[in-house]
Amino acid sequence: MKIVVIGGTGLIGSKVVQRLRDNGHDAIAASPASGVNTITGEGLAEVLSGANVVVDVANSPSFEDGAVMEFFQTAGRNVLAAEKTAGVGHHLALSVVGTDRIPESGYLRAKAAQEDLIRKSGVPFTILRSTQFYEFLKAIAEGGARGDEIRLSPALVQPIAAAEAAAALADLAMGPPRNAILEIAGPESGSLVDFAQRRIAAAGDRRRVVADSEARYFGAVLNDQSLRPDDAPLIGATRFDDWLKREAHGG
Ligand SMILES: NC(=O)c1ccc[n+]([C@@H]2O[C@H](COP(=O)([O-])OP(=O)(O)OC[C@H]3O[C@@H](n4cnc5c(N)ncnc54)[C@H](OP(=O)(O)O)[C@@H]3O)[C@@H](O)[C@H]2O)c1
Repeated sequence: MKIVVIGGTGLIGSKVVQRLRDNGHDAIAASPASGVNTITGEGLAEVLSGANVVVDVANSPSFEDGAVMEFFQTAGRNVLAAEKTAGVGHHLALSVVGTDRIPESGYLRAKAAQEDLIRKSGVPFTILRSTQFYEFLKAIAEGGARGDEIRLSPALVQPIAAAEAAAALADLAMGPPRNAILEIAGPESGSLVDFAQRRIAAAGDRRRVVADSEARYFGAVLNDQSLRPDDAPLIGATRFDDWLKREAHGG
């Protein structure tokens, strides 16, 4: 199949493209770097011509509330309209577990708007919501940095290796549209404080991560349900300690 991966040069996108190619598909990494821009529309009709499936794993260059909403709405409208013209039979998008539960977060409001456009588009779809990637924990920790300490919510999270979220996406892209929202999470649940502390310590960073239940995550105060999956999610196999060891040896 011809499968266009929008954001195919990114962290997740590059892994999705590789797995699709390994399975014999004609996977195309589409992004501004390859002349495809979902905001301006540049290159979109051309790359979607003859495509069977589109996987959208693009991300907004800015996480500022207004900018991120503008990004996901404009990109969503442009991509879905171009898919209708091209007769694409399956739109698959990566979203975030908790998107519908945390309207105080500008980023998650924008992901909810993206999901809404997809559900109402009439294009057969699958939405996969993932929990946080292990790869993202360092940036989350930096977001809570206050001088010599890091303050983060102690809420429960269930992060996953990006490679496993990417593999699940690629497998879904090779199957029929589900017209549903699925969830994927890692194998272990624990406090965000604990995961972040282990992540930065493994990188030789000696700062302490302090639990602060008022600390905001992308603008939102969290509780133990905010970022955890609902019943029966897909579950990745790689435990955090094993991932950390692998990272320490160059991935
Ligand atoms: N990070 C997490 O923990 C997490 C968890 C759950 C879900 N997600 C979702 O995963 C998705 C991908 O995240 P990521 O971390 O892999 O992103 P990333 O590494 O930052 O990559 C972003 C991709 O988007 C592309 N892009 C940016 N502007 C574009 C435009 N105007 N038109 C087309 N492509 C554009 C970039 O292309 P260039 O390389 O050409 O700039 C790049 O390929 C996001 O939708 C995010 O919401 C992330």
